[in-house]
Amino acid sequence: MRTLFVTGGAGFIGSAFVRLVLDELPSCEVTNFDALTYAGNPDNLTGLDASRHHFVRGDIADREAVRAAMAENTDAIINFAAESHVDRSITSADEFLRTNVVGTQVLLDAARERKVRRFVQVSTDEVMGSLPEDGNAYFTENSPYEPNSPYAASKAAAEHLVRAAHHTFSLDTVTTRCGNNYGPRQFPEKLIPLVISNALHDETVPVYGDGRNVRDWIYVEDHCRAILHALEKGQSGAIYNIGARNECRNIEVVEAILNKLGKPLSLIRYVKDRLGHDRRYAIDPAKTEAELGWLPLETWESGLRKTIDWYKENSEWIARTRSGAYREFYARQYGTEVGAD
Ligand code: NAD
Ligand code: TYD
Repeated sequence: MRTLFVTGGAGFIGSAFVRLVLDELPSCEVTNFDALTYAGNPDNLTGLDASRHHFVRGDIADREAVRAAMAENTDAIINFAAESHVDRSITSADEFLRTNVVGTQVLLDAARERKVRRFVQVSTDEVMGSLPEDGNAYFTENSPYEPNSPYAASKAAAEHLVRAAHHTFSLDTVTTRCGNNYGPRQFPEKLIPLVISNALHDETVPVYGDGRNVRDWIYVEDHCRAILHALEKGQSGAIYNIGARNECRNIEVVEAILNKLGKPLSLIRYVKDRLGHDRRYAIDPAKTEAELGWLPLETWESGLRKTIDWYKENSEWIARTRSGAYREFYARQYGTEVGAD
């Protein structure tokens, strides 16, 4: 796999994946196709090898733009592009359907047209809904689809389209489903970067409901290495669940961060719960570990330490993201406003 078409590569996980493949696969070239929505940030791409990394701004739901950007000899498409925030999907689902559903179909069509060797769909454990809080149940690749938020439903729809392209047209596809990621460069609307950046500014941190919802956390680079393994070694048509066996209640996450930052727990504010809030996610990664020979490298302790250190050392990144200043950079750099077309 030498010529990769990565979508959403200016976002949190996509940019970590682009960094990883440029490091791990010295002969590969990456076209990074990203619409630069509010979550896409050119600051995430600084320092990449410009001879092997080609950024193209475009919308995955725009068929002509995808065709124009995709090299004839593209070996693989790795689809990270998505609207990714549950709370935004509760406010309005329109963009979620356009990007996550229509956009995925456009990419599948392009993959067939260009005879791309493999299509990797980056999906989420949230397509499987919520697990009982105190049970020993885990999500496996055979768990039923039970998406509960508009975001999860749009990602489940995308998985169905990927499955259909494999079944009907024999397209070589792999779908990965991961739990909650944390690490550098995550947009501070998600729990961990929000808590870190608010706490660093001595602002209160909002905890939804009773704070006892459980998420299964994984360091972003571990997720990206699993996707690379799936790209290189996954069975055609298969689904792989990716997780680090690291369940935590939200309140434990928040308290751990405040303690590590030396900030008082009095910054915690319990706020109104999210509508339809999933109680527990927990992934059984046994298939991925056994078939792909993958294991996470970071522990919760080491991953959280790296993450907190990164945000402390990159206060400028947080400031520019919070103020939208990276948009001004973009306008200067590219002569057009982010989101102008
Ligand atoms: P993100 O919101 O940080 O980044 C999404 C990127 O997609 C942004 O750069 C954005 O500009 C781009 N994008 C959005 N709409 C687009 C469009 N129409 N065309 C082209 N680009 C577009 O998201 P993330 O957290 O990096 O998530 C990446 C992928 O991983 C998503 O598919 C998400 O569903 C999945 N995922 C995320 C997590 C998590 O914990 N963050 C867990 C499991 C799976
Ligand atoms: P989030 O990072 O939005 O990821 P997801 O909804 O995809 O799991 O939220 C993680 C958990 O943290 C989720 O249970 C909701 C909760 N949460 C808060 O308690 N406060 C917040 O301000 C946010 C953004 C999330």
